[in-house]
Amino acid sequence: SAAEKGGYDYFMLKEIAEQPKAVADTLLGRIDGSGSLTLDEVRIPPGVLREIDKVVIVACGTAFHAGMIAKYAIEHWTRLPCEVELASEFRYRDPILDAQTLVIAISQSGETMDTLMALRHAREQGSKVLAICNTNGSTIPRESDAVLYTHAGPEVAVASTKAFLTQLVACYLVALYLGQVRGTKWGDEIRAVIRDLSSIAGAVDQVLGTMEPVRELARTLASKKTVLFLGRHVGYPVALEGALKLKELAYMHAEGFAAGELKHGPIALIEEDLPVVVVVPSPRGRSVLHDKIVSNIQEIRARGARTIVIAEEGDEAVVPYADHLVRIPATPTLLQPLVATVPLQVFACELATARGNEVDQPRNLAKSVTVE
Ligand code: AGP
Repeated sequence: SAAEKGGYDYFMLKEIAEQPKAVADTLLGRIDGSGSLTLDEVRIPPGVLREIDKVVIVACGTAFHAGMIAKYAIEHWTRLPCEVELASEFRYRDPILDAQTLVIAISQSGETMDTLMALRHAREQGSKVLAICNTNGSTIPRESDAVLYTHAGPEVAVASTKAFLTQLVACYLVALYLGQVRGTKWGDEIRAVIRDLSSIAGAVDQVLGTMEPVRELARTLASKKTVLFLGRHVGYPVALEGALKLKELAYMHAEGFAAGELKHGPIALIEEDLPVVVVVPSPRGRSVLHDKIVSNIQEIRARGARTIVIAEEGDEAVVPYADHLVRIPATPTLLQPLVATVPLQVFACELATARGNEVDQPRNLAKSVTVE
């Protein structure tokens, strides 16, 4: 009913708008005043976590993209090797797992059969499994050694939005917690990340307030056949997520690429007026990444692409090459997905509407996939 949708036309719009609160709720009570993480709910003894020598993340769809981003954070902050794998591929290749492996299963519903089967397989090999889940008491947390709940609230629309942002928050918390428990050197960078994480809900809110031009742009692209998405570093999984949203909602051909792969094949796809969304890393800090993507944007534009550039406020280097420029607030590199994903969600939702598609219930899809 209209009341359930809180005055929005679709649950998806409501859930996109709820993201600042979902993010804040997922952080609530988990970072104390001194900037330490208090994740007592992760009932894996610190002694066990100190013995871990590898992290393996399993998930499907959007949750898999959250896992891909988590890998960058976990490896950078903890120096533990981290693998991410589609749950449906994982157990069929005889993965190397033992008691020193921490497996993280990410699932909004907690009922995804592929993810459940992957974690069962991991536990049979003696690995500890931590679930990151949005649904209290669902099967995946019940069968795991521990659970860190995302506090997104119920997500009704088939296309995952607020659950994704909270999965990212939960992954960052786990990464920082592992670092804390294992005594990884707690430098200024980590302190800054914790500070920025505490104010990130405000940044998400700020992005939501500037989405009208993105909606207008989406409407003008309603008759396009293909949209490509490019990113580097954590912007690469964001590009994959943008493409997935567009496939499932707009039924358009969409692909996400690592920008560095362009010249290894995908650049052959570029033709006159093809919309290409580019997620640009912050020009501060890791400026090598930034410079590389600016040349990627030049390369595709020279071949006729219509560039839709998502870049941090104050990033002037992209301006000459952006046919459309979407500004996002400055964040530390690893946290950028929390703000950069939002315009892609809005873009896909508006394109779906413009094409007359059923936004909350896309064809052929179910909210949770309980079969293999
Ligand atoms: C996302 O928009 C999708 N509908 C889908 O990829 C989903 O993320 C995937 O099926 C995993 O679901 P889960 O988080 O409930 O396990």
